Amino acid sequence: MKVIDKKDQLSKSIKEAGLSPVGFVPTMGALHQGHVSLVENAVSQCPLAVVSIYVNPTQFNDKNDLLNYPRCLPDDLDLLGSVLRENDIVFTPDDREMYPEEDKRVFNFGNLDNVMEALHRPGHFNGVAQVVSKLFNMVNPDIAFFGQKDFQQVAVIRELVRQMGSSVKIIACPIIREKDGLAMSSRNQLLEPKIRKEASVIYASISSAAAKISGLDIPSIKNYVKRKIEEKEGFRLEYFEIADERELIPVTSRKEMKPGLRYFGCIAVRAGQIRLIDNIEIPL
Ligand code: PAJ
Repeated sequence: MKVIDKKDQLSKSIKEAGLSPVGFVPTMGALHQGHVSLVENAVSQCPLAVVSIYVNPTQFNDKNDLLNYPRCLPDDLDLLGSVLRENDIVFTPDDREMYPEEDKRVFNFGNLDNVMEALHRPGHFNGVAQVVSKLFNMVNPDIAFFGQKDFQQVAVIRELVRQMGSSVKIIACPIIREKDGLAMSSRNQLLEPKIRKEASVIYASISSAAAKISGLDIPSIKNYVKRKIEEKEGFRLEYFEIADERELIPVTSRKEMKPGLRYFGCIAVRAGQIRLIDNIEIPL
C-alpha cells in the first residue's frame, strides 16, 4: 500500500493507477475490526481502495472529546497493511492539508440534522459534511463504504451526496461487535475497566427492546431501556429513539410505523466519561 499525506499526490496517484471502480473508506483512525470490515468490502468490490485517516476537528462539538480521541497511526498502518494491496492508498492528511482556510459552509439537512445525535451534538453533522465533501472531491470515488453503526451519519451522507449532485454510491456495512455484544468503537479503549465490563448492557437492552416491540407500546419500551441502562452504576441514557432509516422521524406509538419502511432503535449512552452509540433494526 502507499501512504500519502498530500492531496495533489493523492489525485496523481489515483489517476496513474487507472483502475475503477475506486472504493473509499473514510475513517478517523484508531482502527478496529469494524473499520477493517469496511476496508475488506472495498478491497473485494474495487480494484483500487483508498482509506483516509484524519481526526476531523470540525465535527467535534466537545473539545475534550477531540483532545482525548485516540491516535495511533503506526498501529493503524500495520493493520491496514494486512488488508490492503500494493496499489491501494492510505491518505493521512494534516489540518493544513484539509483546511488551508476555515470552512464556513453551512449545510441544511432538514430533519436529519434535528433529531437524536444532532440534538446532543450540535454542529456535528455539519463538520462531518464539510470533511466528507472535501474528501469526496479529493478521492473522487465510485463507491464509498460507511458503517451502519453510525446510522444517522449514513442518512446524512446519502443526503449530502444528493445535494452535491455526486454519483458516488454509498454502501452501508453491518455493525461489527465485540464478543459480549458491545459495538466496536475507537472510543471503547477509553472506557474504565469496570465500565467496559458492564458496557454489554447497551446492546443487551436494545436487543430486548427489539424483541418486545409486538408486546409493549413505544413509551413503555423507552422506559424499559432507560431502566436497564441506568441500573448500572456510571451509565446514563442520553436517548433511545425508534426512527425510520430514511427520514429519521422518531415514532411515539406503534401506529406511526409505516409498512414498507425499516425502523431502527437508536441509542446514545454516557458510559462513565465516554459517550457511546449503537442501534438495532426493530421488526415491524
Ligand atoms: P470513524 O468513527 O473512524 O468511523 C469510520 C467508519 O467506520 C464509519 O463509517 C463508521 O460507521 C464505521 N464503523 C465504526 N465502528 C464500526 C463498527 N463497529 N462496525 C462497522 N462499522 C463501523 O465515522 C467517522 O469516523 C467520521 O465521522 C468520518 C466519516 C471519517 C468523517 O470524519
